[in-house]
Amino acid sequence: MQPKLSAKAVCSDKEVGRISKVVVDPLSHEISHVVIQGRNGKSGERQVPISEIREVVSEEEVVFRCSSEDLEQYPLLDRDSFVTVHDVEIAHLEDNLHVEPGEVLVPLPRLEREIPRRMFFANMTHAIGALITLPLVYPVLKYLMKPMYQPYDNSWFQVGNVNKIQKENVGYQYKFTRGFKEAFMPEQEIEKNIWVVKATPEIQEAVYGGEDKKFYDNKGDVVWANKATTPFIGFSGKCPHLGCGYKWRKTKNYPDGVFLCPCHLSIYDEAGKVLDGPAPRALDVLPMKVDAGGNINIIDIEYKAGVKGQIRLL
Ligand code: FES
Repeated sequence: MQPKLSAKAVCSDKEVGRISKVVVDPLSHEISHVVIQGRNGKSGERQVPISEIREVVSEEEVVFRCSSEDLEQYPLLDRDSFVTVHDVEIAHLEDNLHVEPGEVLVPLPRLEREIPRRMFFANMTHAIGALITLPLVYPVLKYLMKPMYQPYDNSWFQVGNVNKIQKENVGYQYKFTRGFKEAFMPEQEIEKNIWVVKATPEIQEAVYGGEDKKFYDNKGDVVWANKATTPFIGFSGKCPHLGCGYKWRKTKNYPDGVFLCPCHLSIYDEAGKVLDGPAPRALDVLPMKVDAGGNINIIDIEYKAGVKGQIRLL
């Protein structure tokens, strides 16, 4: 049973208040803390680790191990250091959680210093497994992946019209489908998306630094250059950290809006610059042209995720 919102919080000596929110680890999707609102709302909201819960007696009552005095050692909730799950849309979270989503908080990355340590051991195990199996799977992989060693696809895709964008310096998402062929499988249609910003001259300068951005084919020839003074800038819909889809969101700290990735909470400004989180580089700008009728055309380039520099894959 999980602690229910507004359930009574009872310490070893007395009732101390009610559970007002829960905090979720964005990676494990498990509740890491509960937030206790003091009685009569006077003593603020304290963030208490879930390990302090001795028993969830019923949906209405949760008993804690600590005394009411010990509870005071836990920090008051710093609400600005969290976003709600509405803001980040964590997939399948509701499979694990049975509380009101509006009251479920996710810590912003500054608070997540523990995660790399936990991930280190998981990554180490994966790396050892990969080393053991590599000699066995390499010939098969090489055979299967042969069709991938092809020239990059520099075709243009029309994704929508700029008349949808009402405001400057705000992300607008365009969805499109494209054919995709994986080794020896029939060609399939896949859904993709890009984000476009109608950029003010300051944002154009922040993205391009006053120089046209060139894009190259696999022979090193220029296939297209975005003009540094073009107001419409298109970003790949994949987060450069590990490739998740991100959204344009307003948060308490960024009331005008930012690009927010739900997977590990990287945050980017309207120029694609990393403001917070583990992303190793800015959002990837795509080759884009807008015709006289306002139709947006892009080359759907994909870059390798998780690395600082842009390494073109498709
Ligand atoms: S995929 Fe990790 S922050 Fe986006």
